[in-house]
Amino acid sequence: MTINDVYELIPEHNLLRDEELKRKCAEAWLEAIELGGWDKKGLENCPLSVGLMRPDCPSNGLEHIRKVVSTAEVVYNEIGDWLQEMGECDHDIVIAGALMHDVGKLLEYDIDEEGKPVYSKTGKMFRHPISGGYLCAKHGLPKKVIHIVLSHSAGLSPQGGKNCPIPESVIVKHADEYIWGSVHLLYGV
Ligand SMILES: [Fe+2]
Repeated sequence: MTINDVYELIPEHNLLRDEELKRKCAEAWLEAIELGGWDKKGLENCPLSVGLMRPDCPSNGLEHIRKVVSTAEVVYNEIGDWLQEMGECDHDIVIAGALMHDVGKLLEYDIDEEGKPVYSKTGKMFRHPISGGYLCAKHGLPKKVIHIVLSHSAGLSPQGGKNCPIPESVIVKHADEYIWGSVHLLYGV
């Protein structure tokens, strides 16, 4: 698998205006895909969750990521300039944070022989905000992106999900909740 395959699988990388940031995000995704073995199993088979959705849920982890990014982009387009006037809100931090927020799920989740979502050995030790934050740091992503990854999940974040000190993380967290929450409403167990 190559960086170009990552751009094809997740074309929302192209929303990033900074080419270096785009490449670093794709490199982190590529490492996660290969470490998790999803280049062989198919990235579209990486689950949305383990044990929280019915087996007939049509959405998967890849679709979730793409929808969170596109939702975050819509929100940024609506209020980004206004937030910048009041203080700060960086477009590429929002998009990179949304792109990377669940990258750790590629290491956290696996599928068993019957195709059922299960936790991987790594996932039992390091839940996805931790492994995702580690991958982002390893690939030189900005601190604010790492913060978004670490803090996006209420129950699993090392900061308890309560620490959202930058506007970019508020946008990503809520975009994630729109997408996750509506699918859970329809297909949650
Ligand atoms: Fe998410």
